[in-house]
Amino acid sequence: MPFSKWLIFLVGVICVKHTLSFKFSYNPYCWVAECCNDETIPGDINKLRRTLRERVYGQHFVSDIVDALAAHWNLNSNYKPSKALTLSFHGWPGSGKNYVTKFIAESLYKYGTKSKYVHHFIGRVHFPLEKQADSYKENLYLWLKGNTTKCGKQLFIFDEVDKMPATVLNVIKPMIDYRDNVDGVDYTNAIFIFLSNTGAGLINQHYEEFWNYGKKREELQLSDFETLITRGAFNEEGGFHHSDTIKSNLIDHYIPFLPMEQKHVIECIKDEFRQRNVFDPKSAHIKEVLQFIEWGPDSSKLFSKTGCKRISSKVGVMVAKYYRPAQNNEL
Ligand SMILES: *[C@@H]1O[C@H](CO)[C@@H](O)[C@H](O)[C@H]1NC(C)=O
Repeated sequence: MPFSKWLIFLVGVICVKHTLSFKFSYNPYCWVAECCNDETIPGDINKLRRTLRERVYGQHFVSDIVDALAAHWNLNSNYKPSKALTLSFHGWPGSGKNYVTKFIAESLYKYGTKSKYVHHFIGRVHFPLEKQADSYKENLYLWLKGNTTKCGKQLFIFDEVDKMPATVLNVIKPMIDYRDNVDGVDYTNAIFIFLSNTGAGLINQHYEEFWNYGKKREELQLSDFETLITRGAFNEEGGFHHSDTIKSNLIDHYIPFLPMEQKHVIECIKDEFRQRNVFDPKSAHIKEVLQFIEWGPDSSKLFSKTGCKRISSKVGVMVAKYYRPAQNNEL
């Protein structure tokens, strides 16, 4: 090709790139690394809505989470949130708090939980000792500040809040308050998610009563739970115990995760089979997995004590045993 044609081609490419420039980054560093832009932080709310609808069972309140996130990162306007978004998930182990949180990270961030903008702090791992609470607070403050200075759209996940020393979370109070800047840093685009078992007893009890009245799970309203949970969070030990965060109403949404009943556990089992490309598992095999589940409370035996936890490995064994592809048989 003669030189002039090359030139026209090159100009063409540059023009096309210019019109799409909101999608591409000119900073070559961002071609190889993760940068704070729409490409690595797509905030794909539709994907989240779809995934939660298809893969989460019996938790109709998760749609409120999607709405809250959509409102916070309103991508189509110049809307600026007035405070960081704070969500608090409560429920028995295995009811899906971590599971849903993972889907949130995967829909909002291209690299999901591996993104450098997604931080996962676990009570017993990161903040185990009561007497070191002061140094935890100091570190936590510096981490949140350091990261948010670089990029506003951070996701901070605090897991096992009930296992954290009671005062650690007080350090984030100014960051989640209605302020444009704290010490020169703007936290209003950040998202904080708190996970705990706190209040789970109250949630389960409330649902059991509701169920005894012959009402449907889906008829339960968020407002039925909010006061229950705030009271539970106050009275039980751990990260929110007498916490400034709760006292000053800085949690935007309390989301209860309801205990799983048998029909939901069966859906989880089928989903685990599907994840392993088994689309039509035998009902005997589903029953076999169900036998590993313990049911409670004693009064009704209505709920799985471990929710949908531990199912994955059981299904894995089942698939290896009964469904492995023919070519592996000789091994
Ligand atoms: C960002 O947070 C991580 C913890 O998730 C921490 O290890 C790191 O030092 C923080 N970065 C800055 C610049 O503060």
